[in-house]
Amino acid sequence: MPPLLEVRDLVKHYPLTRGVLFRKQIGAVKAVDGVSFDLRPGETLGIVGESGCGKSTVAKMLVSLERPTSGRILYKGEDITGLSGRALKAVRRNIQMVFQDPYTSLNPRMTVGDIVGEPFDIHPEVAPKGDRRRKVRELLDVVGLNPEYINRYPHQFSGGQRQRIGIARGLALNPEIIVADEPVSALDVSVQAQVVNLMEKLQTEFGLAYVFIAHDLSIVRHISDRVGVMYLGRIVETGTDTEIYDHPTHPYTQALLSAVPVPDPEAREQRERILLTGDVPSPTGIPSGCRFRTRCWKARERCALEVPLLAVPAAFRDADTPARHDSACHFAEEKRVVPGDPRGHTG
Ligand SMILES: Nc1ncnc2c1ncn2[C@@H]1O[C@H](COP(=O)(O)OP(=O)(O)O)[C@@H](O)[C@H]1O
Ligand code: SF4
Ligand SMILES: [Mg+2]
Repeated sequence: MPPLLEVRDLVKHYPLTRGVLFRKQIGAVKAVDGVSFDLRPGETLGIVGESGCGKSTVAKMLVSLERPTSGRILYKGEDITGLSGRALKAVRRNIQMVFQDPYTSLNPRMTVGDIVGEPFDIHPEVAPKGDRRRKVRELLDVVGLNPEYINRYPHQFSGGQRQRIGIARGLALNPEIIVADEPVSALDVSVQAQVVNLMEKLQTEFGLAYVFIAHDLSIVRHISDRVGVMYLGRIVETGTDTEIYDHPTHPYTQALLSAVPVPDPEAREQRERILLTGDVPSPTGIPSGCRFRTRCWKARERCALEVPLLAVPAAFRDADTPARHDSACHFAEEKRVVPGDPRGHTG
C-alpha cells in the first residue's frame, strides 16, 4: 500500500527580527530544518525529542496550521503543501490533531456537546443539523465518556476526561490520520496509560494512522510501530520500535534511552548511564557539521566538518532486512555506547 503521508525535507524557519519601527531580519529560528518520513495506513509513527526540538512545529505543518518554509507533504501521493480553499478543507478533514494540553485547548465557555460537534460547523455534510447531537453522543460513548454529560463544561471534568473530549473532537470527521501532539504529557502518570490504551483501541476500531509525539521515549514505545528521534529540528535516528530501543545507533538516542527508568534491578545494573552535558544549542545558531556534536561524547574532527545524513549505516546494509534503520551519525556502526564501556551492549 502506498504511504498515506510522505513528508519530504520539511523546513520551517521563523524570521528573527530586531527593531520596533524598522524591523530588520537578523537571522532565523530554524524550528524544523529538514524532516522526512512516511506514514502508512493504520500505523503509528512515534516522534520523540526534548522540548524545543520542533515536534509541535512539524505537527502544525502536517495539519496545515503552519505553512512550511520549504519541503513537501504528500497525502496519498498528492502534494498538499500549497493547497488552499476548498481543496485544503477537503484534505484537512482527513488529518486531525489532538493537542497537548487538555486544560487550555478546550474553550471553557463551550459545552462538551458544542466542543465535540464544532468540526461539523466546518463540514456540515458529515452531520446534518438534526443529526448532530446523536453523533456527538455516539462520539462521547466511543471515547468512554457518559453521553449524558453532553451539556457539561470542561471544568467539570478531570484531565484524563478532558483529553477524551479532545480525542472525540478529533474523531468527529472520521479522519484517516490523527496527529497527537504530546497527548498525555499534561496528565498524571496514572491516567496516561488509560488514554494511550484508548487511543490504541480507537486505532483498531477505525483503522487510524497516528503520528504520536512525545518527549518521553517510554510512552512512545508502547504505541509505536516505528519511531523517529528528533534533535534540533531534524530526525537523527529512525527505525522500528525494536531497533530503536534495543539497538540504538545514534549517540543521542543512546543517551535518551539511558535516562529511561528500568524497573528490573539486574538490567539497571547492566546499564551505563549516559549524561548529556551542556545545553541544547539555540535553533538560531545550529552547530556546523553534526548538530549534536556540542553534546556528543563520541564527537571528533569530522563531526564539525561534515553533516551526517540520515541513512542506513554502510556496515548494516543488508538485502535480507528490508526494514530501514537510519541514523544520522558518521560513526553509527560503532558498537560501544561509551568509550571505555567493555560490554558494548548496544551492538
Ligand atoms: N511562531 C514562532 N516564532 C518563532 N519561534 C518559534 C515559533 N514557534 C516555535 N518556535 C521555536 O521553534 C523551536 C521549536 O518549537 P516547537 O516546535 O514548539 O518544539 P517542541 O514542540 O519540540 O517543544 C523552539 O525553539 C521555539 O521557540
Ligand atoms: S556524527 Fe559525530 S557528533 Fe554527530 S552523533 Fe555521530 S559521533 Fe556524535
Ligand atoms: Mg511541543
